[in-house]
Amino acid sequence: MNPINWKCLPFGYFKTDFNIRCLYKDGKWGQLEVSESEYIHMHMAATCLHYGQEAFEGMKAFTGADDKIRIFRLEENGKRMNRSADGLMMPEVPADLFREAVIKVVNLNLKYVPPYGEGASLYIRPLLIGTGAQVGVKPAQEYTFLVFVGPVGPYFREGFKPVKMQIVRDYDRAAPLGTGNIKVGGNYAASLRPGSRAHEEGFASVIFLDAKEKKYIDEAGPANFFGIKNNTYITPESITILPSITNMALRELAKESGMKVEQRHVPVEELETFEEAGACGTAAVISPIGQIVDRETGKVYQYCKDGVAGPISTRLYNKLKGIQEGLEPDTHGWNTIIN
Ligand code: PLP
Ligand code: COI
Repeated sequence: MNPINWKCLPFGYFKTDFNIRCLYKDGKWGQLEVSESEYIHMHMAATCLHYGQEAFEGMKAFTGADDKIRIFRLEENGKRMNRSADGLMMPEVPADLFREAVIKVVNLNLKYVPPYGEGASLYIRPLLIGTGAQVGVKPAQEYTFLVFVGPVGPYFREGFKPVKMQIVRDYDRAAPLGTGNIKVGGNYAASLRPGSRAHEEGFASVIFLDAKEKKYIDEAGPANFFGIKNNTYITPESITILPSITNMALRELAKESGMKVEQRHVPVEELETFEEAGACGTAAVISPIGQIVDRETGKVYQYCKDGVAGPISTRLYNKLKGIQEGLEPDTHGWNTIIN
């Protein structure tokens, strides 16, 4: 194998040696199995293929300055996968099974965990799919839980540099009483067209508005939005937003640093008043937003002087990374150390 150029890794698929699988059949989960195959053999009438019975998760493992490998908040991802499972009538993955699978797949692929200081991490992708056959629209009887991993670099090419985002009004990623608040493939399918258009038009990502009134900020592509003003961290509350585990951590870190935290509707006009804005998520980490353009009205919102992230976003980013890389004490017990 050629040596991996850690510094130049994109956020993309990277073949590693092993993945972990587990089958659900006859009302119960089987044993975890280690696989070297990148492929899944499944029935052509599997419900994941036809009716979108599919949920996934995303988390990261980091090599710390002390060479220990830490997985960030894996229990929370396990809980969220089960909320998604419940939403699509799939069986829950027991917390112990989820944890064992995640730790095992990282341990089996240790050579792919980027070293400390390379600006990369090991992305962990759990997947839960209906693999039983159905033609009527109903839940499958059989499921596959799978976890694969791969080294990744920053989601936004810019890394911790301000990106441009585009507000769209002619697409929604999720319906108000739909599946926006769980992590299921259909939401991402709906975001592909506006997302590619935004890229073609020179933006890193789309910002969706609430589907009902088109008044409030919803998701920032594959991440949650936050704005900062008057020493307050403000992030949208909405039934179509995926509750981000990164955002949950940032709210706690902001509070601990003496900031106020508000989770509430954020009207589009309020963008004008923020001192800093950003997107947060596992893949995005914190991506400072330098500019937001409203595609329909043409209005431009500008943040970040001289292309540099604002001081509060920078402080939160450093704190979060510090905890993930063992430079800051993990007072909340967010990390699982695996070696
Ligand atoms: N929103 C969407 C639509 C996402 O896909 C993600 C990524 O998982 C997030 C928000 C951020 O969530 P988290 O911080 O748990 O990764
Ligand atoms: C993540 O941040 O883990 C995500 O799932 C985003 C992904 C859709 C690229």
